Amino acid sequence: MSSPAASSVLRVALLGGGTVGAAVARRLLQHADRYADQLGRRPELTGVAVRDTTRARDGIPPALLTTDAAALVGDPATDVVVEVMGGLEPAGSLVETALRRGAQVVTANKQLVARRGEELHAIAREHGAGLHYEAAVMAAVPVLAVVRESMAGDEITALRGIVNGSTNYVLDLVAREGVPFADAVRQAGELGYLEADPTEDLEGVDAAAKVAILARTAWGTSVPLDAVETQGISGLTDADFAAAAGRGEVLKLVAEARRGGDGRVHARVAPTALPATDPLAQARGGTNVVEIDAVLAGTVRLVGAGAGGDETASAVLGDVVRAARPR
Ligand SMILES: NC(=O)c1ccc[n+]([C@@H]2O[C@H](COP(=O)([O-])OP(=O)(O)OC[C@H]3O[C@@H](n4cnc5c(N)ncnc54)[C@H](OP(=O)(O)O)[C@@H]3O)[C@@H](O)[C@H]2O)c1
Repeated sequence: MSSPAASSVLRVALLGGGTVGAAVARRLLQHADRYADQLGRRPELTGVAVRDTTRARDGIPPALLTTDAAALVGDPATDVVVEVMGGLEPAGSLVETALRRGAQVVTANKQLVARRGEELHAIAREHGAGLHYEAAVMAAVPVLAVVRESMAGDEITALRGIVNGSTNYVLDLVAREGVPFADAVRQAGELGYLEADPTEDLEGVDAAAKVAILARTAWGTSVPLDAVETQGISGLTDADFAAAAGRGEVLKLVAEARRGGDGRVHARVAPTALPATDPLAQARGGTNVVEIDAVLAGTVRLVGAGAGGDETASAVLGDVVRAARPR
């Protein structure tokens, strides 16, 4: 990585120009002056890797589009590689290559970080690189920074939250509008709230990845994805919703983790009936909420947008700024 003193330009390569990538690109290009004032280095977008360069992308000059992600990552002049393509491959290999040549890497890829986070951190340490992934958990809600930095002097005992906005949208539609469960799932798909393959959301896999990352960040211990007890919402029936409503409760997909007296971390994701007064029960639509319990602080609650291009770009760009600061 070029040293800040040697260069007044911050070269940023974007891997992915979809929902999140396009929002990051637009902001970097349209607000370059602001970042230059903030960082003392003017961000320059070196390229945006996509699969299809013929498709127009709002706010991204076509000349920046490329299918050659490896060339962007391998360019020694690139200071920060932002991975927002998703999936384990080729994203994983590209991130690894960038780290091995000492670059700063920012990623929003929860599956990659949940599965290979420790290995990638080790590579980053070995090569003087940096790995940043605030956007991978709860998008705009800066929960990792709070857990890792702001609460570092406290002792976190438990985490509990709604960390998947898509399923919360579905559950909220059923609970508040009385839409049959199957119709609510269909509607969420049509509105683009669910992935084309909705399994990750509906089976709790997305939430499991996020709680694994959160727990590892809170307690510094490895939390393999297959150690997270995971149950999604796909098995719920309209009768379950009716029964919960009859008890004055609300069904939510709750992700939680706690450290037991033996020091071991227990993490799970499961549909849970909550009293209507529970702050998690009040999360509407795609909102995410997390409660962090700590010995000194008591309960700290963070609420905000858990998805969306601009909302996720907020966290990605926060990491870009962090990555660009002199160490
Ligand atoms: N969307 C959200 O609200 C959100 C929130 C938090 C985290 N995230 C994470 O952010 C990442 C990106 O999400 P997204 O919603 O922006 O996804 P998306 O809209 O599907 O965009 C993915 C982008 O990556 C490109 N891409 C995919 N595979 C590629 C390959 N092999 N080579 C080159 N380019 C490739 C795609 O190119 P084409 O456009 O040509 O297909 C597209 O531009 C994911 O890890 C996701 O989990 C998303």
